Amino acid sequence: MYRETESQIKPMFDFTKVRADFPILSQSVNGNPLVYFDNGATAQKPRQVIDAISQYYQTTNSNVHRGAHYLSDKATQLFEDSRTTVQKYINAKDRVEVLWTRGTTESINLVAQTWGVDNVSKNDEIIISTLEHHSNIVPWQILCERTGATLRVIDVKENGELDFEHFKTILNSKTKLVAVGHISNALGVINPIKAMTALAHQRGAIVLIDGAQAMPHLKIDVQDLDCDFYAFSGHKMFGPMGIGVLYGKKNILESMSPWQAGGEMIEKVTFECTTYNQLPYKFEAGTPNVSGAIGLAAAVDYLASLERIAMVEYEEHLLDYATSKLSQIDGLEIIGRDCPKASVISFEVKGCHSQDLGMMLDQQGIAVRTGHHCAMPLMSALGISGTVRASLSFYNTTEEIDLLCKGIEKAKTLLI
Ligand code: ALA
Repeated sequence: MYRETESQIKPMFDFTKVRADFPILSQSVNGNPLVYFDNGATAQKPRQVIDAISQYYQTTNSNVHRGAHYLSDKATQLFEDSRTTVQKYINAKDRVEVLWTRGTTESINLVAQTWGVDNVSKNDEIIISTLEHHSNIVPWQILCERTGATLRVIDVKENGELDFEHFKTILNSKTKLVAVGHISNALGVINPIKAMTALAHQRGAIVLIDGAQAMPHLKIDVQDLDCDFYAFSGHKMFGPMGIGVLYGKKNILESMSPWQAGGEMIEKVTFECTTYNQLPYKFEAGTPNVSGAIGLAAAVDYLASLERIAMVEYEEHLLDYATSKLSQIDGLEIIGRDCPKASVISFEVKGCHSQDLGMMLDQQGIAVRTGHHCAMPLMSALGISGTVRASLSFYNTTEEIDLLCKGIEKAKTLLI
C-alpha cells in the first residue's frame, strides 16, 4: 500500500521522457491540460506507431501476398515481419500461431464459431466468469443456444475477486472450454489464469484467455501460461484500432474449420470443391489490415524498448497512490480491492451518478469511462448500476491523480 513518504521517492521509470512520445497528451481540453485516464477503452499512440503507419502509406502501400511487383513484395515482407514481431513478443512457438483479426472481439468470435461449432454439443459445458466483458459472454451464449450446451459462470466475491473455489466446483468432465479474462476491464482485477488453465487441462477442457486489458500492463508468455487461445487488441496496447490477434496452439488451429471465406484462405477453388490454405492464411480471408499489423508491430517494439521492471513498478506506484488518495475522499468507494490488480480504479461516489461525475470531470479536462463498462452481469452481481473508471498507464502521473481527486471534490460540491 502507498505510504506518504513514497511520494518523495523518485520512480526509476522515466515517465517524462516516455510521455513526450505521445503527442496527443500535450493538448488542452475544456481549457485544462488533458488528463487521460481512459486507457482501458483505448491507449494513446506513441509517435513511433504513428510514424510507422504514415511511413507505410507514404512509401510502401500495396496489397500483400498477391502482386508480383516491388511494392507488393515489400508490403508482404513488412506484414509478415510484423507477425514474427508479435510471435516473439508473446513467445508463441510458431509464427503461424499468430492470426490477425480486427481485435479481441473478433478473435473470440472466431473461436466460438469455428472450434466451438465443431466441438461443442448438447450436454457439454462452457465456463466463463462473472467478471467478463460482454465480448467474452455473448459469443458463448450464442454458441450454447445453437448447440444446446450449458453456460456455467464462476462467481465473483464481494471484493471483486474471481471465486477460485467456485471455479473448482463447477469445472467437471463436461467442461469443454474455459473462457476467462486475464484482467477485468471494469475493475482491473487480475485473474489467476495460469492456475485456472492447469486445472482446466487436467479436466480435459481447453482454455481461451481474453487478454485485451492485460497486454498493455503485463508481459505475456503464452507458452508459460499454456493457454490454448489468447486474444488481444492492438489499440489497447498503444497500437492502431482495427487490428488484433488471436494466438492459438498450432495443433488446435490446424484441426479447426475455416471461418470467413474468400480470397487468401483457399488453396484451390473449383465449383465442385475448394481446399484451404495453410496456417495462418486459412483464417485470414480477404485483404488484411496491413498498416494495422505494421502499426501493432511498432507498438510491440515500443513496449519492448521500455524498461519493463521499472514500468511495472511505476504503474504499481500509480495504483497505490491513486488508491490511497481516492480512499480519502468522503463517500467514495473503490470497487475491486484487496486482490491482485492492474492500474485500474473503479469507484462510486455516494450521491453522484457515475455519468454526471464523468461529465463534470470532462469539463475539467479529465477523461474517464463511466457506466457498466460492457460488463452488465458484473455490475448486477455487485449490486451497482455502474462506476467511474480511471484506467492508468505508464505515461500518467501522480500530479494527474491529484487533479482527479480535486475534480471529484469539485463535482461533489455541485452534484450533492
Ligand atoms: N472494452 C473497452 C473498455 O473497457 C472499450 O473500456
